[in-house]
Amino acid sequence: MRPGLRLERNADPCTAVIFGASGDLTARMLIPSLFRLYQQNLLARGFAILGTARTDKTDDEFRDEMREAVAKYSSSEADDQVWERFARQLHYQAADTGNSEAFRHIEEKLEAIEKDRETGGNRLFYLSTPPSVYEGIVSGLNESELAARGSSAWRRIIVEKPFGRDLRSAQSLNEKLRSAFREEDIYRIDHYLGKETVQNIMVLRFANSIFEPLWDRRYIDHVQITGAEKIGVEDRGGYFEQAGVLRDMIQNHLFQIFSLIAMEPPISFDAGSVRDEKTKLIRSVRPLPPEEIDSVAVRGQYGAGVSDGEKVPGYREERQVAGDSTVETYAALKLYVDNWRWAGVPFYLRSGKRLPKRVTEVAIQFQRPPHSVFKQVLGGPVDSNALVIRIQPDDGISLKFSAKIPGQTFHLRPVHMDFHYGTSFGRRSPDAYERLLLDAMIGESTLFARGDMVEASWQVVMPLLEHWKNQQEIDFYEPGTWGPACADEFIEADGRRWRRP
Ligand code: BG6
Repeated sequence: MRPGLRLERNADPCTAVIFGASGDLTARMLIPSLFRLYQQNLLARGFAILGTARTDKTDDEFRDEMREAVAKYSSSEADDQVWERFARQLHYQAADTGNSEAFRHIEEKLEAIEKDRETGGNRLFYLSTPPSVYEGIVSGLNESELAARGSSAWRRIIVEKPFGRDLRSAQSLNEKLRSAFREEDIYRIDHYLGKETVQNIMVLRFANSIFEPLWDRRYIDHVQITGAEKIGVEDRGGYFEQAGVLRDMIQNHLFQIFSLIAMEPPISFDAGSVRDEKTKLIRSVRPLPPEEIDSVAVRGQYGAGVSDGEKVPGYREERQVAGDSTVETYAALKLYVDNWRWAGVPFYLRSGKRLPKRVTEVAIQFQRPPHSVFKQVLGGPVDSNALVIRIQPDDGISLKFSAKIPGQTFHLRPVHMDFHYGTSFGRRSPDAYERLLLDAMIGESTLFARGDMVEASWQVVMPLLEHWKNQQEIDFYEPGTWGPACADEFIEADGRRWRRP
């Protein structure tokens, strides 16, 4: 990382070339985020966007569509004059990337834009297409030399998840990407890393001295990482049938959070050091025993029921979902990290759709005091402390501890010391995409997934994927509950309980 980068955060001039420019992500996230960066003066003067997709359209038609998208999806108001200025930088080129001619057309258009907008020839490619065409596009970029670096101009590529669907396909995608780009120019986006509280995990741990001395097996009983969603699969049934929640949420988003919580302190806050430690952590995860999978992981699928007073379909009744699908919409697993810090401490990870609420959090559950001075007066053990890092919504941190209830009798109750981002800072946090797009234009890759960590994460979940692939049955749960009954039995077998956030 360049010195002072975090303070200046100046984006380099460049052209962002978006493959999949007619898609949902471009309309919902990419253009609104780029526009917000523009509104805040965070883009370089020499900046342009070249959208490309199969459909024929002119620059103006593309601009009109994107104007509508920003009106619909942006969290900030779009002033017409500001939009007009921004829109001059938007361009479009129809291209069927299955055809090598397409890359020649892109090149011609790109060269004209680069000259006109003075982008210094820097190119930021964005793969916002279905993953099935990733490798074809990267080959096209490579063969057409669109990805070839100039003497001073850079070439970077942002890739959307999923990064493969198992270890082998992830390796193949990485190989393909590395045949055209250097690893440091490959930005694998995991939008959870752009969330303010996820970044704050590192600050909590390493910019304070009171937590780290407690951060190990001597004081921590276990850790729970929850990524719960209230919604079902909505209109993404076709995609979800190929994914399941293990691939969709756990192997990537929850593993990123897990690695930040459990990694060793990096020597500094630069991309290499941080990502080395995260990768090392994932590599230290004890391999899941294929013959005992059912004791370290459980899964379930939501049935039909009622959510917020409304009738909702079961997963099998969702559009593009097989009537006898056994794809999991809920999964929970227990991981151990085989190193000195964490020996014997279980990390429970769970994620599901159609749970009671949308909440992502990490709960560090401390051990009970080794000896209860109050045993006789209380008649039982005291509660354990918990440090809860709320990632969303209402991001913040809360510390649970016991306090005496005022009065003549001696009763204890858990109380919370609470920190809320919203009230403490009173300002809007940048959206994850805004943050990450800017980072990629700066050349700052700390908050992106590195290829070796992605592969190590697949390696961990492979035994689960293999095991579940062959199972003909799945447990169901009712919408608005915390998953199937087996999820409770699973953790209770260890003498522990899930939090009900
Ligand atoms: C995406 C998954 O990566 O993350 C979705 O594909 C999921 O299924 C989403 O709903 C959750 O993101 P967030 O930011 O709403 O927690």
